[in-house]
Amino acid sequence: MFAALKPQAPDKILALMGEFRADTRQGKIDLGVGVYKDPTGVTPVMRAVKAAEQRIWQTETTKAYTALAGEPAYLAAMGRMVLGDAQDGARTASLSTVGGTGAIRQALELARMGNPDVTVHVSDPTWPNHLSIMQFMGVPFVQYRYFDAATRGVDFDGMKADLGRAKRGDLVLLHGCCHNPTGANLTADQWAEVADVLDRTGAVPLIDLAYQGFGDGLEEDAAGTRLIVSRAPEAMVAASCSKNFGIYRERTGMLMVQVADPAARDVAQGTLAYLNRQTYSFPPDHGARIVQTILDDEGLAADWRAELEEVRLGMLALRGQLAGELRALTGSDRFDFIARHRGMFSRLGASPEQVQRIKEDAAIYIVGDSRLNIAGLNRDSVPVLARAIVDAGV
Ligand code: LMR
Repeated sequence: MFAALKPQAPDKILALMGEFRADTRQGKIDLGVGVYKDPTGVTPVMRAVKAAEQRIWQTETTKAYTALAGEPAYLAAMGRMVLGDAQDGARTASLSTVGGTGAIRQALELARMGNPDVTVHVSDPTWPNHLSIMQFMGVPFVQYRYFDAATRGVDFDGMKADLGRAKRGDLVLLHGCCHNPTGANLTADQWAEVADVLDRTGAVPLIDLAYQGFGDGLEEDAAGTRLIVSRAPEAMVAASCSKNFGIYRERTGMLMVQVADPAARDVAQGTLAYLNRQTYSFPPDHGARIVQTILDDEGLAADWRAELEEVRLGMLALRGQLAGELRALTGSDRFDFIARHRGMFSRLGASPEQVQRIKEDAAIYIVGDSRLNIAGLNRDSVPVLARAIVDAGV
């Protein structure tokens, strides 16, 4: 049986992590995988997370199973955080998942159960694992234009034209904020136009919201998602707590499914629970309980929001510094897009050869498509990166 297995192509982001670890050069800089690092290079446990864990440890009396769809109080708290007033409780089913990736996977499974002929429209480019999961599942997808290589902004005319070709019953995968891998995002007006296109085509939005709070703020980053959900009859939202709560390894996420008619909600809810049961049975609880403990406690929530805001402002300052260094080195404003981008990532627009050169000459690791993780920088490494970018001829 196992002799017939064929090697799988490694995930390029995870492969880069391994390459970085194996590099023995002093001063190497990892701007690959999307993990936040503070100015000392550490991915900290947030203060509110530590406090919540302590509280859970002191008060938890059982590790018996919770609900198949996940702890209801967690789902309710997340629903409020992600959708706010845009949530229509009577039409929304929710599922606790194994991270945001688990939510994407279950969303695709559900879509396929609802429409075996579903085609998924995904941005070009997108998070590589989106494509990989769909390939693995055998779910057909097409890419819509998204990134404008010249401006490093959004090619909105191209995006609209391509999304206009979606059919009723198709799925349109959108990044709610902090687009991964480009850092280029839609404006509020553009979100409204996307809602119009969805309206016209009857395609169902699936919004991947993995970085809420890392772009323009916790509320601001959810604005596009809320608009789409309030306009679309049917919609799905896959939310991740990995980044904004810094609980990557706890694998904490949620899928929300909005149905058109309240009468269909219970069947959707039951189907979601069924999907969990078939995949891994009960979802993990520890991360969900941390998040719920924080969100349902005024003091902890305020402290968490304050720390998240420090993280966000730190990334914005690094963006400004990097754009400034590059302006000084090149005597031009052609890298100013770095300051305009939002979230953890920016796509530089460098060629694979230039990315390779930056790695070989400066021991700086960025993903091959020239996505760099801003949160892997600090004040001292920014000038080193700026120099390496210029030296590589980007
Ligand atoms: C990333 O894009 O780097 C993160 O989402 C981590 C991952 O799993 O790829």
